[in-house]
Amino acid sequence: AAPLRLGVAGLGTVGGGVIAILQRHAGLIAARTGRPLEVVAVSARDRRRDRGVDLSGYDWMDDPVALARRDDIDVFIELMGGADGPAKAAVEAALATGKDVVTANKAMLAIHGQSLAGAAEDAGCVLRFEAAVAGGIPVIKSLTEALAGNAVTRVMGVMNGTCNYILTRMEEAGLPYDTVFAEAQALGYLEADPTLDVGGIDAAHKLALLAAIGFGTRVNFDAVEIEGIERISIDDIRQAADMGFRIKLLGVARMTGRGLEQRMAPCLVPADSPLGQLPGATNMVVLEGDAVGQIVLRGAGAGAGPTASAVMSDVIEIARGLRLPTFGQPAATLIDAVPARAAAP
Ligand code: HSE
Repeated sequence: AAPLRLGVAGLGTVGGGVIAILQRHAGLIAARTGRPLEVVAVSARDRRRDRGVDLSGYDWMDDPVALARRDDIDVFIELMGGADGPAKAAVEAALATGKDVVTANKAMLAIHGQSLAGAAEDAGCVLRFEAAVAGGIPVIKSLTEALAGNAVTRVMGVMNGTCNYILTRMEEAGLPYDTVFAEAQALGYLEADPTLDVGGIDAAHKLALLAAIGFGTRVNFDAVEIEGIERISIDDIRQAADMGFRIKLLGVARMTGRGLEQRMAPCLVPADSPLGQLPGATNMVVLEGDAVGQIVLRGAGAGAGPTASAVMSDVIEIARGLRLPTFGQPAATLIDAVPARAAAP
């Protein structure tokens, strides 16, 4: 069969990981999809940086929008990040010129997901984003495919590994927030703007995306009630521990009689529960459906290998000819769920 031709924009940690998988597993992926996957062109800010992969066979482009528009690619893989700017411009250009799109960009989708999903459908293109939520954990495919026969009753979880690292380390080492924050920064865990992590915003982006899929609602990031972990003290953690609890930055989305509730905030969880036992820089997502009951997914929510694994699952889905709607159903059928707090009397 004809190769599936790829353009990759963004060669940071995740982009490098995607190229590595494509090179390492070319044979097994071709066997699984029935066609070879071929990288045609790439773009990144710095051409000289060593990414530990051989990029010599690909066309280098400086402009991701021009890459997205090339008529010799079938799938545009956006791994640049940022809610607006070049990432969004490039994704729009790809869809406008008939390419399928795979992205890991949670911020862009949490804010522009509805319009981008609509644009994809209008163009007859696919827009998929497994890597945007909880890295290597297949949470989007679990919701859209495995739980497609359920009414989802609740989606919750720990979706920011950095915050989980900070809270866990504070408890285990008895260290204050500022010390552990500095440690996390030295380890390279924190986003360039650390507020995205410790302010709960990154996790809230992910929750808003899961809520849209789970409840068939338009993405409504502005309706997420967000509280970060910046004000959690070692004393809070000790008092919680004395009562048998741990503090986790927990996201919960559920449909109430008053509308959709989306909340990302530090919560007490029983120390001996699966959420309480979640170590260091990992993620855990709990999905509840009326037929299946509760499903618990746990794994690496960040990093080159896990995130690239999720990107590849979308690329392979497209290579196999599956054409699933972005949020599990056509964008125009998503309902505008009234945020629970706005509807309160
Ligand atoms: N900063 C994120 C985290 C990376 O710590 O989980 C993955 O989105």
